[in-house]
Amino acid sequence: MITFRDVHVTYPTGTKGLDGVSLEISDGEFVVVVGLSGAGKSTLVRAINGLVPVTAGELEVNGRRVDGASKRELRRLRGEVGMIFQSFNLVTRVSVLNNVLMGRLARTSTLATLVGAYGSANKDIAFDALERVGIIEKAYTRASQLSGGQQQRVAIARVLAQQAGVVLADEPVASLDPPTAHAVMSDLRRVQRELGITTVVNLHFLDLARSFADRIIGMRAGKVVFDGTADQADDSVFEDIYGRSLRADDVVAAPPVTIDPEDRA
Ligand SMILES: Nc1ncnc2c1ncn2[C@@H]1O[C@H](COP(=O)(O)OP(=O)(O)OP(=O)(O)O)[C@@H](O)[C@H]1O
Ligand SMILES: [Mg+2]
Repeated sequence: MITFRDVHVTYPTGTKGLDGVSLEISDGEFVVVVGLSGAGKSTLVRAINGLVPVTAGELEVNGRRVDGASKRELRRLRGEVGMIFQSFNLVTRVSVLNNVLMGRLARTSTLATLVGAYGSANKDIAFDALERVGIIEKAYTRASQLSGGQQQRVAIARVLAQQAGVVLADEPVASLDPPTAHAVMSDLRRVQRELGITTVVNLHFLDLARSFADRIIGMRAGKVVFDGTADQADDSVFEDIYGRSLRADDVVAAPPVTIDPEDRA
């Protein structure tokens, strides 16, 4: 469970990233955060694993306070919270398998990881993670040789290998073309359901938000201005969140057409 109690984040420049956010995210929820650029979406997500310091209020993750946490407590928190980024953040010169094994770092002794000795139990976990996102055949390929969609699947496999109870994803599909964005969101959603991982995802595109979220949180100027189900978030709700009428670039596109193998030439 993630609990925000009147959380404020004020950056050193004086800009308010969060302006009095109170919310509760239950275990196993899939929450999508939407809002215009600068609304505070990344700040909200990054506050959860302490990447952005809370300047007032209380923030708890799994019963432990994030605000005011020591370096050691933050390290432990980050072991329990997986993070997925728009830019994938893989080590592109090493294999896919090695990238996924990095998800095991927090749970493996430093000496073992220094000599690359993750052990067979960790490798089993990494292969299982790769299988769940459908790229097990790429295990020994260098990450640099993968497409964007495949790289983001590796990043998902890495957080699965981390066995994190909470996954945060900051614009995970913003660098992908529309069909790939849908496919990667579907993968993320499927593994989230299979494993019951609490997931908080920032998305620009309202059609993706509607198709994948259990719950949508709308942000504007650092405040939560909408909190409801995907069904409740109709166009007028989005216009309220955005403070303007909707445009073509607020949606990614129609989902890919699935072709029945029987119909293929
Ligand atoms: N490191 C920082 N230093 C100072 N101000 C920042 C910093 N990061 C974000 N901000 C400011 O805080 C506010 C919220 O930013 P945030 O990155 O959370 O928005 P966002 O909703 O994720 O936007 P985008 O959709 O463009 O990613 C903005 O006004 C932004 O300029
Ligand atoms: Mg952002």
